Amino acid sequence: MKHKFARIFPYLKANIHKLIFGIILLIIIDLAQLIIPKLMQYAIDGIGKEGFTKINLFYTALGIFLIALLMTLLRYFWRIFILGTSWFVDRNVRQDYFEHLMSLSANFFNKIKTGDLMAYAINDLNAVRMFVGFGIVISVDIILLTIASLGFMININLKLTLLSIIPLPLLTIIIIILGRKIHHRFRKVQKTFATLSGKVQESISGIRVVKAFVQEEAELQKVSDSAYDYVKQNISLVRVQGMFHPSFMLIIGLSMMIVIVFGGEATMIGEISIGEFIAFFQYLGTFIWPMIAIGWVVNMYQRGTASMERLNEIFAEKPEIFDGKEVDPSIQKLAGKIRFSDMTFRYSKASPNILENISFQIEAGETLAIVGKTGCGKSTIIELLTRIYNPPKNTIFLDEREIYQILLKTLHENIIMVPQEIFLFSQSVRENIKLGKPEAKEEEIIQATKNAQVYEDIMDFRYGFDAVVGERGVTLSGGQKQRIAIARALLTDPNILILDDALSAVDTKTEKKILCSLIDIRKQKTTIIIAHRISSLQHANKIIVLENNKIAETGDHESLLRQNGIYKDIYEKQQLEEMIKEQK
Ligand SMILES: Nc1ncnc2c1ncn2[C@@H]1O[C@H](COP(=O)(O)OP(=O)(O)O)[C@@H](O)[C@H]1O
Ligand SMILES: [Mg+2]
Repeated sequence: MKHKFARIFPYLKANIHKLIFGIILLIIIDLAQLIIPKLMQYAIDGIGKEGFTKINLFYTALGIFLIALLMTLLRYFWRIFILGTSWFVDRNVRQDYFEHLMSLSANFFNKIKTGDLMAYAINDLNAVRMFVGFGIVISVDIILLTIASLGFMININLKLTLLSIIPLPLLTIIIIILGRKIHHRFRKVQKTFATLSGKVQESISGIRVVKAFVQEEAELQKVSDSAYDYVKQNISLVRVQGMFHPSFMLIIGLSMMIVIVFGGEATMIGEISIGEFIAFFQYLGTFIWPMIAIGWVVNMYQRGTASMERLNEIFAEKPEIFDGKEVDPSIQKLAGKIRFSDMTFRYSKASPNILENISFQIEAGETLAIVGKTGCGKSTIIELLTRIYNPPKNTIFLDEREIYQILLKTLHENIIMVPQEIFLFSQSVRENIKLGKPEAKEEEIIQATKNAQVYEDIMDFRYGFDAVVGERGVTLSGGQKQRIAIARALLTDPNILILDDALSAVDTKTEKKILCSLIDIRKQKTTIIIAHRISSLQHANKIIVLENNKIAETGDHESLLRQNGIYKDIYEKQQLEEMIKEQK
């Protein structure tokens, strides 16, 4: 089995000289720290001795000061080297995490909450970073200071050393018991935090609905309940954490008591000097620090591993959609012929068939229209054609090559789909349009927006193409968003363009204008249009009517009208609706 922290090893390795340098500095600091009690011992014992003058005192003091100065300097540098490295590791893992999320398929995001993913990225990475950074530092301290200070103490007096460390194993026991509790409660804190951030995110993104249904108070209550939960869990964590330090202090007090009694006695009878007595105290101090530090490391280790486990779970998620063995990388350009062959599809074993025996074909450069009631599977056809979901084998052919032979990258370069729900980034209108073709020239952008009938709208914005979309910029209507998204698609001029209900918020007249200009500019290229208004589909080479999961009718506009079926029915109803609207 791979080590839990296997993912961060390469990044530690890449920074290994920085880490080693930092550790060397730490060792120097620790050693310097150990000299100070010796110097004090020398000064105290020197007092009253012959030949020991103020000059000697001054030099000792200067020595202590210089060592302290050196330690200050080196402390600054080890922080930069070791904690700095931990930040680099943090950044790299974060990058990997995001990259990994990007590689995962639509289905993964259906089943996991965004709030959870955010919490992992914030809290868990934090815990891992703390462990990597401080964990290394403290471990070095623990090993070195424990051995060295113990050595110095034994050097002063063995019996006193043994007596004074009697209470200290208690520290270890406390660490084990409280450490486990902390680990357990920390997990709960993390869980409630994930729930809380998920709730907040949902309330904010759904703010329009919340306001429309006057649910502000109810939403607030939900968030505040969840926040209260978070507080409760944190307090329960703090309760155990709060016991950590005081119990340490108690044990240290015990140890000090023993030194005063027995060390004091040893000094009185002259077994050790006063200087040694004081130095012993200081070494005991340095010896206790690593005992406390073990607690911290255990704490950080437990948090770090818990977090790493959670991150590993996400990292273990495999994309469901990937390039298989059958890909032929030599396929680079698609002319645009599309053929569906007897396809039957359902989303999962538990779901009913969404599509049944779907067969049709269009030649490169033709325009296909798909019509049918909401929920009849139009978008599903598109999701299979763009491999957002995996279609059954040997059912979809592009340029007569099976879809699985085409690299996903190639597929997505050749097929651009504009969905009904548009997502625009909070950037300028220009940047949003240039998304798929960053090198586009200004004229091209203008032409694309003219073809998408949104140029005039953009010119009306105060900052034109530089207007920022979203919260702190222009508020766009649904129709404007859709037309900007169409401009974005037209700019890349893909070999296959799909508009999946992408004109639903645009008025009839504008819709017709857009579709007319589409026919003009996409003469040699394949276009698929899914639309509700049949009147705008008259120019399509082929129209498919879906009903009850099957293709009910196919043909062009004229032939479908002659068939006297569903298509004609819908057409006549819509004609009537339009007439009534015009009369109003
Ligand atoms: N990811 C999915 N998982 C399970 N069922 C789905 C999923 N997406 C859509 N469906 C179901 O498939 C059917 C067809 O949906 P869709 O293709 O979006 O219809 P249309 O685009 O024609 O309105 C609907 O019944 C819908 O509930
Ligand atoms: Mg749809």
